[in-house]
Amino acid sequence: MKLRALIIVLSLLIFSCSNKEAKVFTETDIQIIPKPERLKLGEGHFEFNKNTVFFTTDVSQSAAAQILIDKFKTVQGWDLKTVETLPKSNYIQFKTSEDIKKEGYKLLAENNIITIEANNFNGFLYGIETLRQLLPVEIESQVKVESIDWVIPNIDIVDAPRFKWRGLMLDVSRHFFQKEYIKKTIDRLAYHKMNTLHLHLVDDQGWRIEIKEYPKLTQIGAYRVDQEDKPWDGRYTPSLDEKATYGGFYTQDDIKEIVAYAESRGVNVVPEIEMPAHVTSAVASYPELSCLGKPVSVPSGGLWPITDIYCAGKESTFEFLENVLNEVLELFPSKYIHVGGDEATKTNWKACAHCKKRMKDENLNSPEELQSYFIKRMERFISSKGRVLIGWDEILEGGLAPGATVMSWRGVKGGLEASEQGHDVVMTPGTHCYFDHYQGPMNTEPLAWGGNTPVSKVYEFDPIVDSMSDEQAQHVLGGQANLWSEYVPTESHSEYMIYPRIAALSETLWSPKKDRDWLDFSYRMESLFKSYKYQNINYAKSAYTISSDAKVNDATNTINVSLKNEFPVSDIRYVLNGASLDSTAIAYSKPIEIKATTTIKASLYKDNKPVGKVFEKTFNYHKAVGKKVVYNTKYHNSYKGKESTNMVNIIRGTKNFHDGQWQAWLVNDMELTIDLDEEIEIQDVSVGTMEHQGPSIYFPTQIEVLLSKDGKAFKSVGKIDRPYKNNASIILKDFNIHFDPQKARFVKVKAKNLKKTDKGGDTWIFIDEIVVR
Ligand code: ACM
Ligand code: ZN
Repeated sequence: MKLRALIIVLSLLIFSCSNKEAKVFTETDIQIIPKPERLKLGEGHFEFNKNTVFFTTDVSQSAAAQILIDKFKTVQGWDLKTVETLPKSNYIQFKTSEDIKKEGYKLLAENNIITIEANNFNGFLYGIETLRQLLPVEIESQVKVESIDWVIPNIDIVDAPRFKWRGLMLDVSRHFFQKEYIKKTIDRLAYHKMNTLHLHLVDDQGWRIEIKEYPKLTQIGAYRVDQEDKPWDGRYTPSLDEKATYGGFYTQDDIKEIVAYAESRGVNVVPEIEMPAHVTSAVASYPELSCLGKPVSVPSGGLWPITDIYCAGKESTFEFLENVLNEVLELFPSKYIHVGGDEATKTNWKACAHCKKRMKDENLNSPEELQSYFIKRMERFISSKGRVLIGWDEILEGGLAPGATVMSWRGVKGGLEASEQGHDVVMTPGTHCYFDHYQGPMNTEPLAWGGNTPVSKVYEFDPIVDSMSDEQAQHVLGGQANLWSEYVPTESHSEYMIYPRIAALSETLWSPKKDRDWLDFSYRMESLFKSYKYQNINYAKSAYTISSDAKVNDATNTINVSLKNEFPVSDIRYVLNGASLDSTAIAYSKPIEIKATTTIKASLYKDNKPVGKVFEKTFNYHKAVGKKVVYNTKYHNSYKGKESTNMVNIIRGTKNFHDGQWQAWLVNDMELTIDLDEEIEIQDVSVGTMEHQGPSIYFPTQIEVLLSKDGKAFKSVGKIDRPYKNNASIILKDFNIHFDPQKARFVKVKAKNLKKTDKGGDTWIFIDEIVVR
């Protein structure tokens, strides 16, 4: 540490003597994401200037060099050259070395020469990507910049990826994204040393790839009736004659362009052609593909359950799919071809004469075995073409096809099971890899699917599960983020959901596990944000967002409110009760004790300036705070909230039902009793609830409050009935029961569960908090 301080002082001295003297680098200047496997900083530096050349001996080396040449052209107007004879100095040389790991590279910068060694294009590319991150961040500028010394430190890096599948899935069906955005995303994947782009080209709400043999797939299937002004789950089923104008698709020429561009950035594009479900767009185009053969429209939004699926009995279904795949295989050189396979509701298969005959002929005992037959048949076809079928973990049900690779999304279970059976797997568990989830406190974020996957949680992801044997671990190809786009209508919103979470993911997939260090990553993320800014990426600053938590102090009936953001070390400052957030703000160092209704306003500071969103919240103190709660019916194990203090801890549940502040009951009613310690006068009890019908959360159909002095004889003081209503959005509602002021020690609250939806599914009630006044 002392030595480093001395170096900084010396470098300042040098700077003050002469402007032109180059900077002395220290470890804190090296901010590479994903973190390289080994790195040694030397003394001295390499400076790029307009005479710097790239010495290359083959096209893959030149192609990698070109990426940096293009950057210097933009920011400086230089025309840097590749050369084929070794210059004397001031060059970057590329060497092909067989003993370097696949996709790995060595980068050695020594005064006048930089050497990048690798054994394939991706290795050279990643050497260049590392150079980009060693250079001043202005290298990412989209316009010319002035007065920058393009200096990197002398450095010795040995680097290679931990996993070979480092992916991102874009759902281009729920919302269509232009080819140019896909190419931009490919560039950015390469920047993060990611190598796989999975394109979800088919889903109910849109078929996105031109298939010459079946033109209606895009004439009809690529467009839906425009209901973008309504919530995703609140869109009506369009009639067949309504004009469908919203959508788009990639022509085969577009696909060729995307695939070629991806190749130039070391990215493999994996196409996903869903089957047998998530294909309403295809059935709308060719109704004969379904069991019923009945015309349907392309849904404009949420569709559940998905029953209009491909008929597994008719031979013509397989003929169609093989013809489609023949065109897809022509366009995509990818070894892996994704066939979806998820979330098929097999109601129609059970009733369909063709499907029943198929089951009888093939000796299949369940609809799951029929799905397994379907996928196995497609797997035979795909492997006959020299490719590998990959599908969502439902393809395990009813028996996995012999050569199939599994993408585990419903947690890691599918990955464990498939790897145990000796199959390769790609891990994409919803908990850590679903980028359609929220990434910050829900009330501060744009509407998302649900869930809670902040960047720090992504950083905890590991594709290898502890319980895996070494042999199972060998089958783990890597991991991938999935960005489903129901709630992602625009490119800038897509960027918001991807960055910086993809950076965290890239480090989990690239860097050695032993080097995982969230604090260190959080510092490097600051430089990354600067780079994103120059790259014009609409990245999320949610990691800055302050959230609060509270702990009840039973002894004093006070609440200790803690404030945090995602960074382990951060400068949060706050003021209370309407004061302004200025130089009087208090540096947060320990939880804030609350004994009365209090408003806290806080911000994160960087270099003495507020950054991110201002936090402002009023904590409403009430008479039950910190009192004992006895549950007469116990909350569900999956939603325990803060256990016994949850209902009386002041902190309110948000619209994110995963926020850890809610308690929930599945089918059961809620009944609990609060003991106020002594008889006190009360006149008001309010019960906080939520409705979010998508995941089957419904308002209680009735709330009742009863009071008692002795805890035995209770008297009802009010009841509110709230019959079921259809509702497409997420709503928070307090049921407020007001009564004549009276003394009581015990407050009993009952909430009735709807129990069954009109479709027969089980229902939840979610409760927080119970406010007594
Ligand atoms: C999925 O999220 N249905 C794969
Ligand atoms: Zn059928």
